[in-house]
Amino acid sequence: MAQAKKRVIAVSGCKGGVGKTVVAVNLALAMAKLGQRVVLMDGNLSVPDVEFTLGMNEEGLKEQLSSDFIFSSSAEGEFATSSSGHQQKGLLDGPSGVRVFTPAAQGDWKDSIQIIQAVELIQDMDDLASDLDTLIIDTAPGLAPDNVTLIQAATEVVVVVSQEDVSVIDAVRQIRLLYRVFNVHQFYIVVNLVSSRRGGAKQFEKLQEYLKDDKQIVLSYLGAIPHDKTVSEAILQQSALLTVSNDCRAARAFHRIGHQLAKLPVPEPKGRIEFFLPGRIKERI
Ligand SMILES: Nc1ncnc2c1ncn2[C@@H]1O[C@H](COP(=O)(O)OP(=O)(O)OP(=O)(O)O)[C@@H](O)[C@H]1O
Ligand SMILES: [Mg+2]
Repeated sequence: MAQAKKRVIAVSGCKGGVGKTVVAVNLALAMAKLGQRVVLMDGNLSVPDVEFTLGMNEEGLKEQLSSDFIFSSSAEGEFATSSSGHQQKGLLDGPSGVRVFTPAAQGDWKDSIQIIQAVELIQDMDDLASDLDTLIIDTAPGLAPDNVTLIQAATEVVVVVSQEDVSVIDAVRQIRLLYRVFNVHQFYIVVNLVSSRRGGAKQFEKLQEYLKDDKQIVLSYLGAIPHDKTVSEAILQQSALLTVSNDCRAARAFHRIGHQLAKLPVPEPKGRIEFFLPGRIKERI
C-alpha cells in the first residue's frame, strides 16, 4: 500500500567506489518490488551516469559525448516522458516500474557547481511529489557543497562503507560535517563488499568507536552486502542486480535492507532545505 508521506533516501559515502550507485539502484528496485512508487535520482550533478549504468539511454549518452560536455544550467534535459502520463521533466522509465531522474549536468569544467543549483533542484522536485512514495538519490563521492546540500535534504541518510578502513574514516568526516553544519544526527549504515557477515559488523563497530564522543549522533546498522560476482556480472551487462537475480546472496541482502528502510517511520521536516517541504508541512497542520 502506498504511504502518504514521502521518503527521501540519500545513498551516500564519502569515499569513491564503495558501491553507492549499486546500493542506490538495487534499493530502488527492492522498494519498488514492495509496491512503492520509486524515483531514482542521479545526484552526481557534475557527471550524471545512473541511467547509463542501467543501459537505458545510449542515444542520450552519445549526444552528451558529442556535445563536448557543454551543459545546460537548467534541470530540463531532453528526456523521454514517463508512461505514468505526467509530463515530468527528466523522468525515464526504468526496470520494475522504477523511474529514473537524471538532471542535466549542472556546469562545465570551468564552473564549480553552486549550492544554489542543488537547492533549485531540490525545489524543482516538488512537481513529482504527488506521483511517488520514495525518492532514492545516488550521490557523488566527496564533500563538495552541492553534494552535501542534496544529502542533508533527505529524510534518511544512508552511508555506505566498504571493508577498506579508509572508507570508514571518510564516513566519519562526512557524518561529522552533516551533523555540525546541518544538524543531521541520524545515519543508517550499510557495509558493502564484505567477505563475511562478521566483517560487516566489525566495520560498523569501528565507525561507532570513532564517533563515540559525538553523543548526539545516532548510527543504525542496516546490514552488510556481500562481495558477490553476480553484482559485477550484472553491471557488465548494463543491468541492475535485482533485474538479473533475486536470490543470490547480495540480492537477498538488498531485499532485507529495503524492507527495513520501508518500515521506518518517515521523520518530520527539520526546518532545513529539504525535499518535498511544502507537502510535508501541509501534512503536519
Ligand atoms: N556487492 C558487490 N559485489 C561485487 N561487486 C561490487 C559490489 N558492490 C560494488 N561492486 C563493484 O564496485 C564497483 C563500484 O561500485 P559503484 O559504482 O556502485 O561505486 P560508487 O560508490 O557509486 O562509485 P563512485 O564514488 O565513483 O560514484 C561496481 O562497478 C562493481 O563492479
Ligand atoms: Mg556512483
